[in-house]
This record gives sequence, structure tokens and C-alpha cells, in this order.
Amino acid sequence: MKEIKVGIAGGRGLSTMLGFRSIEGVRVTAMCDLNEDRLNEAADKFGVEKRYRVFDDMLESDIDAVVIATPMQCHVPQAIAALEAGKHVMSEVTAGVSMDELFWLCECVEKYNKVYFYAENYIYSPQVQLVKRLVEEGFFGDTYYAEGMYMHNISNLLVYPDGKTSWRTYWQDGVRGNFYPTHSIGPVMQWFPGDRITEITTFSPGVRHPYGVKQDSGTTTMCRTAKGNLLNIRTDCTSPHPHNMDYYHLQGTLGAYRSKTHASDYHRVSFIGEDSPSHAMQWKPLEDYNEYLPERYKNASKEALGAGHGGGDFFIVKDFVDAVRGEAKPAIAAYTACEWTAVGLLSGLSVTNHEKHIEVPHFRPNMPLEEKKTPLD
Ligand SMILES: NC(=O)c1ccc[n+]([C@@H]2O[C@H](COP(=O)([O-])OP(=O)(O)OC[C@H]3O[C@@H](n4cnc5c(N)ncnc54)[C@H](O)[C@@H]3O)[C@@H](O)[C@H]2O)c1
Repeated sequence: MKEIKVGIAGGRGLSTMLGFRSIEGVRVTAMCDLNEDRLNEAADKFGVEKRYRVFDDMLESDIDAVVIATPMQCHVPQAIAALEAGKHVMSEVTAGVSMDELFWLCECVEKYNKVYFYAENYIYSPQVQLVKRLVEEGFFGDTYYAEGMYMHNISNLLVYPDGKTSWRTYWQDGVRGNFYPTHSIGPVMQWFPGDRITEITTFSPGVRHPYGVKQDSGTTTMCRTAKGNLLNIRTDCTSPHPHNMDYYHLQGTLGAYRSKTHASDYHRVSFIGEDSPSHAMQWKPLEDYNEYLPERYKNASKEALGAGHGGGDFFIVKDFVDAVRGEAKPAIAAYTACEWTAVGLLSGLSVTNHEKHIEVPHFRPNMPLEEKKTPLD
């Protein structure tokens, strides 16, 4: 089996390190970061010899694949450069920062025929995977409504500890609308197989916070899907609220799921049954259904569990490697990554246009040129 050599750009990419190191025939041989101190500290820690400050220089090395974990506004330019250089790409969230970037990304994935794998790690949590399996087994009946909520006040991340302004001031808190949608959309879309988001409207209470940046005091984006289902996506990165980045709710014709909201809470489900008629439903712990967990989560190895998130941080890397080896399709490929990211980008247009209802382009292979436009163009 040919060895796969990986290069990691950006410190956040180290979350993949344990995964890569525990897969046979894979080696992280290069690292890249503009910040030389961070670069050397991480590379020393993991014994990586090839070090680059400039991403394009790393692409000239003999790596087969890159992990792009640099700031959001670097993702598409770096993904395009990597694909053109013949490297497979695993990209951090979000996929890109403009609609045009998303169209370019899809074009380059088609042109260069390399793997593009969207690292939406939240879909890999054991709870999301267990609910997915229960949906497939029919426990929820016909699923038609879901909520995803991401509450993460990032006011402490707008300036780096050394006093320099962070990219988050501009590319996250410097924009209107939901700049970070996919940790919420990704998991809930696992529960609507074969569906896609076709239209959105975003609501905002305006700017009520003291940070002097344009970002809304939270947004709520209502999404309609091709099959007529409804998603309610709330993202709030400015309001005073304890962190709660993975709150979800699912409703179907036969039952419901609610994720836990704080440490002492628990994930819960309720299904219609003999002792649970629809007018008197009771919650049960989700873990009562653990027998339905996918096998790899039930029998997670020490390495998998050690990588974090109940094995999720290992399985995402394993899936990427399997895709690079041609043994599986990317779990989240470019078209889906672009659809979910577009919801956020279009939400900015919606809030700045009187909560306008906006259609989401249908990202798919060989999309016609006339469809590659921002809907209000
Ligand atoms: N999936 C998740 O749960 C999760 C969590 C945190 C961050 N992220 C994503 O990870 C990415 C990085 O976020 P972060 O919090 O680590 O940011 P950060 O600002 O802490 O780190 C970014 C690093 O990238 C380096 N960098 C910047 N531009 C570069 C370039 N052109 N080439 C090489 N290196 C460059 C910086 O020097 C810095 O070390 C973002 O896209 C963010 O959305 C994802």
C-alpha cells in the first residue's frame, strides 16, 4: 500500500494529528503556519521535519494531501492551489467566504479530480450518529422539523494575546448574518436523508452588543428543504450566554429528540408507543438506544477514543484517508459543503434586505454557468 504523506496548515489542524498517526501507511510529514513560533512549537511536539511559512511552498513538497485549518478567508484560495498542485484536500469549516468562491471551489474539484473533504466534525459526534441510525430504523417516522443552535461568544478571540487584531474581527464578527452555520446544519441534515436546503430567510434582532462590530446579536435562519421540511438554525457569537455549540432538536411523526443543553443534562428521545401515547409522551435517555450506534462507535479502539469526541475525531480522519485511497466517497463532499456554507452567506443578504426570502443555488456536478450567481444578482 502506497504511503500517504500529509501536510497540515494552521494549528487547528493538529486535531487531526492523532488520527493520522494511528492509521497505518499515513504520515504527517509537513506543517505550515505563518507564525513561525507556533509552527516550530507544533512541529517540534510532533516531530515533523518539513516546516513552511508559505502554503504554496509546502505544496511543492512531496505531500499527497493537505489539511487546511487556516482562517476562513484562506480556505478556498488554498484549496484551489492545493487541488491544482494535485493534492487531496481536507478543509476546515466553513467552505468559503463568498458565493463566487463556492462556485470556483466546485469547478476546481471537478477540473482537478482530487478528493475534497469537508471537515464538519460535529456530524461525527456519537449522538448525531445514533440519532441518524434511529431515523434510518424508522423510530421517528417521517422527520419534518429540526433545530440546530450554536451559542459561542467569541469576544475574547477578536484580538490575539499579543494585541494583534484577529481575522475573526473581520471575517466573522465583521459581517452580517450567520457566518458559521455548518456545525448546526451539518448534524441536522444527517436526519433528512436525500434532502437539500432550497430556500432561507434570516431574522435578526439587530446589533445589541457592545463590541463595535457589525455582527448581529444572533440570527435565526429558517430553511426550507426540497422535500418540504423545515430547519431552524440559530447562531449567536456575541450575546452573553454560556457556550452551547451543539444543541439540536428533531421532530418526526412518531417521536422527537432533544440534545442536552448543559453538563448535568442528558440527550433524550421520546417515541410513540403502548405506554407513551402521543398526548402523554415521556422523555427517555438517548443512551437507552446505544445498541443502534454504528459498530465502529460501539467497538471504538483505544486510538479512536484517544483522538477525542467519542471516536469522532478519529473517524473523520479515517474517512478522509479512505477517500484518498479511493475506498470510499468523501463523507461531506464539495457540493454539500457549499450548500451548507451558502446558507450562512445568503443569510447576510437576507438580514440586510428586510429578511428577504432567498433561494439557495443547487450545487451539483457541472452546474450551468447561468446558475452560478448570488441569488440577488
Ligand atoms: N471544526 C471546529 O470545531 C473548529 C474549531 C475552531 C476553529 N475552526 C476553524 O479552524 C480555522 C482556524 O481557526 P483558529 O481558531 O485555529 O484560528 P487562529 O487564528 O487561532 O489560528 C490560525 C493559524 O493559521 C495561521 N495562518 C494564518 N494565515 C495563514 C496562511 N495564509 N498560511 C499559513 N498559516 C496561516 C496563523 O498564523 C494561525 O497560527 C478556522 O477556519 C476556523 O473556522 C474549526
